[in-house]
Parts: sequence; C-alpha cells; structure tokens
Amino acid sequence: MDIKSAEFIISNSEVYKCPKHNLPEYAFIGRSNVGKSSLINMLTEKKDLAKTSSKPGKTLLINHFLINKNWFLVDLPGYGYAKVSKSDLTKLDKIIKGYVMNRESLTNLFVLVDARLEPQKIDLEFIEFLGVNGIPFSIIFTKADKLSAGKLHTNISAYRDKLFEQWEELPPIFVSSAETKMGREDILNYIESINAQMAESSENK
Ligand code: GTP
Ligand code: MG
Repeated sequence: MDIKSAEFIISNSEVYKCPKHNLPEYAFIGRSNVGKSSLINMLTEKKDLAKTSSKPGKTLLINHFLINKNWFLVDLPGYGYAKVSKSDLTKLDKIIKGYVMNRESLTNLFVLVDARLEPQKIDLEFIEFLGVNGIPFSIIFTKADKLSAGKLHTNISAYRDKLFEQWEELPPIFVSSAETKMGREDILNYIESINAQMAESSENK
C-alpha cells in the first residue's frame, strides 16, 4: 500500500474526546521506549510525524494520525516506565486502558515488543489482558536491526514458545526495524487487507 498522505489530527488525554468517525483505526502500544512513535514515522515515511525520544516516557497522550484520508494510526503512551511517579503511572494506565477498552473504532491493536529481550512479564500480562477482554491484536517485534539474524530468529521463536504456553493460536506476528524499514510492507499489507475486508462487510450491510 502506498502512503499518499499522513496528517496529525489531534492529541487527547481521554478516550471520549477522541475523533468520532467510521474509519478503521490501528493503535500502537507497548513498553515505553519500545519504538511505537518511530514505527509510525517509518510506516508513513515521515520522520517527524510522531514525536520520538531516546528517553522513555515521550508520548503521554492519545495521538490520532489520518492516513490516506481513510484510516487512522494512533500513537499511545507506553506502559511500564519505572521512573515516573506512581500517580503519573496510574494516569497513563488509565489513558491506555481507557482507550483500549472503550474505543469502538479500534480495529486492531499492535503490541510492540523489543526483539532484543526475553519475554517480559509486563508484556505477557498486557497480552493476557487483551485476550481476556477480547481486544483484537497483533504483535510487532521492534529494533530488529540491533540483532544478528540468528539471534533474532532465536528470540522470536522463544517468544512464540512462551505465548503457546497461554494460547492455542497466535495472532499475526511481524518483525520490524524503524532504521532499515524491515517489516514496513508486511505491516502495511496487513492493514490494507483488513481495510478491504471492512469496506466489503460495510457494503454488504
Ligand atoms: P514512548 O513514547 O516513550 O512510550 O516511547 P516509544 O515507544 O514511542 O519509542 P520511540 O519511538 O520514541 O523510540 C525510542 C528510542 O528507540 C529512540 O531513540 C528511537 O530512535 C529508538 N528506536 C525506535 N525504533 C528503533 C529501531 O527499529 N531500531 C533502532 N536501532 N532504534 C529504534
Ligand atoms: Mg512514543
């Protein structure tokens, strides 16, 4: 899929203030600093569309970006950043869970996981939470450029094994790098195929 346009629309701290629309919406979640905002810039090929930082805790609001004037990408705050105060952590948790649990237009949530790390409790718990609540999601491994091909393969198959302890079937899994654009086509094709299915099912209504 070609990205012809990508525009920032609005930032919100509350899900009920988010734009009202009937378009497919794809959001990015994961631990702070995992590369959510960088991935949005990589997918749209706009390097400053979403704000990124080498320090965790950069994105603190729900950010809507309109793509090709017919679907949305949403950048969310990260979870699990140890250095923020307890009250700020609670606030972020409320923003994230408020969005994930109540956003009717949420078509698919991409859960980003750092490809360099062994499965982290906080991510596994978040994935479990999505399963329990029936939230449609996929997994994207990030920062693949920081690993050799062999290590990348080992880590991803270890992650799959870990998920199979909880799940009978796994959701789609992508591997990405914001540096090399690895995964860009696969992720965009996946979004395009869901958009097409949604357009077809709304025509049949
Ligand atoms: P918060 O908004 O704080 O939750 O973080 P985030 O998940 O949006 O992460 P962000 O995109 O701001 O990236 C964090 C850091 O990781 C930045 O220094 C990025 O340059 C770096 N980074 C992100 N993706 C990649 C990647 O694929 N490869 C490499 N090498 N660095 C990356
Ligand atoms: Mg961010």
